[in-house]
Amino acid sequence: MQKTLVLLKPDAVQRGLVGELVSRLERKGLKLVGMKLVRMDDALARQHYAEHVDKPFFKGLAEFITSGPLVAMAIEGEDAICMVRTLMGETNPANAAPGTVRGDYAVSIGLNLVHGSDSPESAQRELALFFKEDEILEYDRATDPWIIES
Ligand code: RTP
Ligand code: MG
Repeated sequence: MQKTLVLLKPDAVQRGLVGELVSRLERKGLKLVGMKLVRMDDALARQHYAEHVDKPFFKGLAEFITSGPLVAMAIEGEDAICMVRTLMGETNPANAAPGTVRGDYAVSIGLNLVHGSDSPESAQRELALFFKEDEILEYDRATDPWIIES
């Protein structure tokens, strides 16, 4: 089982796509184990996107990601990190396949609606930026029969 951080970015909230995007993750069979509405500040943007701080697009990325509330989610499932990235589609919506979030709803590499952690190390680091330990639920697989088993 893996946990991953998903952000529904400010454009998703502003466009009223939160329900649709949460639905896609639920219908896939991934489990929601944490969720909150967050307004990122500049310091959090620099931490979250630390690998991009020196890139030319960082200024625009930070302005966008701090421009309004976003939905932060902790998502659990087998291979959840890869599954979420596949559901999201390519970073640039011009290359994102139909059926993916970015392929279906986005036209700009900046306003690309969703974030998903790209590795187990990133997931652990990023989840800790948005959630305290007790804000991510631990389900008991023996006594919670509604957990989807493969
Ligand atoms: P994210 O981190 O937001 O989930 O997106 P990603 O993994 O698909 O893409 P990443 O390479 O991590 O880039 C982070 C965000 O920066 C913006 N970006 N702009 N103009 C550009 O060349 C460029 N490259 C990346 C995108 O908004 C991307 O989501
Ligand atoms: Mg990334």
